[in-house]
Amino acid sequence: MRLDKLLANMGFGSRKDVKSLLKKKQVFVNGVVAKDGSKHVNPEMDKVVVDGKQVVYKKYIYLMMNKPPGVISATVDQKEKTVIDLLTKEHQLFEPFPVGRLDKDTEGLLLITNDGELGHRLTSPKKEVGKTYYAKIQGIVTKSDVEAFKKGIVIDDGYQCKPARLDILQSNEVSEIEITITEGKFHQVKRMFEAVGKKVVYLKRLQMGKLKLDEMLALGTYRELNEEELTYCQKLN
Ligand code: URA
Repeated sequence: MRLDKLLANMGFGSRKDVKSLLKKKQVFVNGVVAKDGSKHVNPEMDKVVVDGKQVVYKKYIYLMMNKPPGVISATVDQKEKTVIDLLTKEHQLFEPFPVGRLDKDTEGLLLITNDGELGHRLTSPKKEVGKTYYAKIQGIVTKSDVEAFKKGIVIDDGYQCKPARLDILQSNEVSEIEITITEGKFHQVKRMFEAVGKKVVYLKRLQMGKLKLDEMLALGTYRELNEEELTYCQKLN
């Protein structure tokens, strides 16, 4: 990996900022002053020191975002703002991507990482990781809906969904529910309610497996996963 990319990724600013550090002879690789940013280093083997402090290399980032409505769960888009646009330049340098998709109007827990294996572990249908959503539903949600969801709802394309857990928080003209599904079909929760003649008017993801949305995160903000959360995600096998 190029030295200037490594330093930029580790938060030492843009390549231009890094160039200036190098020019000022503040960067050492294995004890030797480095002046050329194009120099290749092995971040796991070479000792890189900036301003007297050793640079601890980090390959992956793991971010938890409270996704706001109005942005799409993609890395780039010609027209729409993406969740990646909400990250700092430093985090964008890691080339992260969202794990699983939330609709443009859906809010809540979104994991963003550049660790493909972890992304796969959380989203693979085989792993059956439960995803829990809070939703407001136009129409009165009934106990027979709960039973139908438990058996497996057949959605518009004929697909029979796996059993889902539906908890009614409030049954009204606009009902409030929590639902846990283990799949991630396109618009799945919305289509499941359409199949019983109701409409999702608000949707927010609360949880993926044991990973819970940090309610301290305002919409559109994010933080790195803590040790416990990361250990949990890495143990999913
Ligand atoms: N189900 C949906 O319908 N939309 C989402 O964003 C997530 C699950």
